[in-house]
Amino acid sequence: MSNEPLVLGIETSCDETGVGIVRGRTLLADEVASSIDEHARFGGVVPEIASRAHLEAIVPTIERACRVAKVQLSDVDAIAVTGGPGLVGALLVGTASAKALAFALGVPLFAVNHLAGHIVVDELEHGPLPDSVIGLLVSGGHSSLIKLTGSDFHALGATLDDAAGEAFDKVARLLGLPFPGGPWIDQLAQSGDGAAIAFPRGLTSPHEGEANRLNFSFSGLKTAVARWVKQQEQAGNTVSIPDVAASFQEAVVDVLTQKAFNACQDTGIDHLVIGGGVAANSRLRALALERALRLGISVRIPRPGLCTDNGAMIAALGSRLLMGGAAPSDLAFSTTSVLPIETVVLNELG
Ligand code: KG4
Ligand code: ZN
Repeated sequence: MSNEPLVLGIETSCDETGVGIVRGRTLLADEVASSIDEHARFGGVVPEIASRAHLEAIVPTIERACRVAKVQLSDVDAIAVTGGPGLVGALLVGTASAKALAFALGVPLFAVNHLAGHIVVDELEHGPLPDSVIGLLVSGGHSSLIKLTGSDFHALGATLDDAAGEAFDKVARLLGLPFPGGPWIDQLAQSGDGAAIAFPRGLTSPHEGEANRLNFSFSGLKTAVARWVKQQEQAGNTVSIPDVAASFQEAVVDVLTQKAFNACQDTGIDHLVIGGGVAANSRLRALALERALRLGISVRIPRPGLCTDNGAMIAALGSRLLMGGAAPSDLAFSTTSVLPIETVVLNELG
């Protein structure tokens, strides 16, 4: 039997009930129950519906993960759970379950930062992260550039308005596509021309200042797409949805990759890891690899199933913390809807 710890991770920050089990950095199970179908007709995640769905799914998902990993709960060495950021009612279902499990099993509990999980999950696929690495985190709620040195996470830049995934979802809605729109735009863009329409690249022009070199802005892009579609319709022109999707997507991934490599250049770190739901985007993956090759930077991106929310990323982060000797959380910790990346594990008393 390996000496590496067996860690069970629970993720309930949004609409996915995720339970992952890892041994060290080896993934044994990654079970996800999504309530996305229940939210689709509202065009976004409804917090109350998400909380109720987590309550129904949490125990069966834990049981399924144990079955898939072929382990008993009594084998588990530590529990990890998303402590924030996220929807408070949704987080509470996961954290209450995790506290009960940790208490009953007598094992340490790590209440961890969801955003850090999106970066660290790559260790399950590509092995230990380098000592210094730039993280590009692109999800439905966040777009940030992060510097990870040893066990310290440090924010280098973030979006000033919409997150990248939010922009995908809003533009998809405008084009009459279902929620969440990211995967639909990705798919439609494959038959469109990314150079058809020159949409703006937010915060990339010199007059927008060096201060925003590592920050993002996507709300102007969303407005530009809306205005362009309206103008074409008013002029009686047929709008090619694949061309709009591809051109919008190109604008987003152009900015994301430019700024991620700016961060590498500014810090002298030549390793980049990309995580979060938008990292599942096929064009972002291709362009990042292409530009990295030219710049001599190594890029790691987990497979798409590990980019969108899951329990494995939380188990991976818990396992990394445990193996690195980090102090676990006190059972009295509080969940929090807002959590800066610098706080990787919650251990203050609630
Ligand atoms: O990380 P995630 O699963 O949840 C949050 O923590 O927010 O990210 C969800 C976001 C959604 O906005 C969704 O549209 C986007 O990730 N997304 C994509 C793709 N797959 C998911 N965006 C672009 N292309 C995709 N293939
Ligand atoms: Zn996420």
